[in-house]
Amino acid sequence: MRENRAQFATRLGVIATTVGSAVGLGNIWRFPYEAGVHGGGAFLLVDLLFIFVIGVPVICAEFIIGRHTGSNVRGAFRQLAPGKAWGIVGYIGIAASLLILSFYSVVAGWTLEYIYQSVTDFSGVHTTQGLHDQFDSFAQSNWRPVMWTVIFLLCNYWILARGVRKGIEKMSNILMPMLFVILLIFAVNSLMMPEAAKGLEFLFKPDFSKVTPSVLLGGMGQAFFSLSLGLGCLITYSSYFKKETPLVKTAFTTAGLDTLVSIMAGVIIFPAVFTYGQEPAAGPKLVFEILPSIFSNLAGGVVWSTLFFVLLFLASLTSTISMSEISIAYFVEEYGMARKKATTLNFAIALVFGTLCALSFGCMSGFTICGLTLFNLFDYLSSNILLPVGGMIISIFVGWVLDRSVLRQELGAPVKPVPRLIAKSIVFCLKFVAPVCIGLVFIFGLGII
Ligand code: PHE
Repeated sequence: MRENRAQFATRLGVIATTVGSAVGLGNIWRFPYEAGVHGGGAFLLVDLLFIFVIGVPVICAEFIIGRHTGSNVRGAFRQLAPGKAWGIVGYIGIAASLLILSFYSVVAGWTLEYIYQSVTDFSGVHTTQGLHDQFDSFAQSNWRPVMWTVIFLLCNYWILARGVRKGIEKMSNILMPMLFVILLIFAVNSLMMPEAAKGLEFLFKPDFSKVTPSVLLGGMGQAFFSLSLGLGCLITYSSYFKKETPLVKTAFTTAGLDTLVSIMAGVIIFPAVFTYGQEPAAGPKLVFEILPSIFSNLAGGVVWSTLFFVLLFLASLTSTISMSEISIAYFVEEYGMARKKATTLNFAIALVFGTLCALSFGCMSGFTICGLTLFNLFDYLSSNILLPVGGMIISIFVGWVLDRSVLRQELGAPVKPVPRLIAKSIVFCLKFVAPVCIGLVFIFGLGII
């Protein structure tokens, strides 16, 4: 099967695409809003802990499975453990990816609205209150959020239908470096705000009394979501890796750059939240209310604002492409569907659920399940439950079940083998640390005991 599959052309392509999947709304929209809701520093600390203690080893585990099998998630487990129940990860991944694609496209649609708003200078509204009201009236208008969600999904469809290397790789190579530069500029700008110190204190000073079970669950969910982890996305991507790609190094680079972007987003948002006298716990709309206030106080605000939202839109696209690739590779390789048809099916499912999520801020805001709107339910279910469950199964599989010779082969890459101590620590984390930690967070965070 491997011979027929596409492969990423260059090492930069590998990094840029993997980071392209990881970096997106999860860092720039979800991280600040979750940190705002869960007490700032305490949340960041928990998130960091999960990223490096569980995240990096599980990334390695996905890479090992993906590159070794050169297959989609379902096929990978069928090859490695035929006839066994491990393949359930495949189904969890496909379900999670479709749930995420649905609500993610809504927020990506907001970025499109904000590109439009930026170009039209927010209709001349520049006060913080005015910008708040503008977000609310947009979200409640129903048709506009739905329209942008559909447009976003069409863009996603268009790129996916063009295939793996050409579309994705080219875009990521240019985009990711640009995003870094612009975030850096905004971070410096925020550091010069009058209440910067308060914002930084909120973000970086952990108040340990705030580390509650729900912060632990939220931090774990954020780590998995932000790293695109636990749903087989990285299995699918690494199935396109070459034999020479150093897996552990790529895992660290991905986690490091992804964390850096989240922290930069926090450094941009929180000084502004305090400077403009806003509430950090505003929820999903936080970033979309704060950013325009920042831009409207900058010289050349229209240009900055447009540029930023265009980049955010593109960063979201590289992420949705990666999550769509999970189900598309599955439909193509398991059902022999043509790529176009598989892409259309992926689009159709996201269209239905995405529309429902888009309406969660308008006419369907009263429709709740367990107290959550569909938008929040999809987010909670996928990030806090499905991804960690997927991650737990993957780590147990690679730690305990997978043939040692596969590990040796994949970690002892042809160019430069991974140092023994590092390889041993990763396997230790996969065997013990990750499954136990995830299990404990579930027990306490979900109030099972
Ligand atoms: N990691 C992406 C982000 O931070 C979201 C994502 C989740 C992408 C799961 C793929 C799979 O925006």
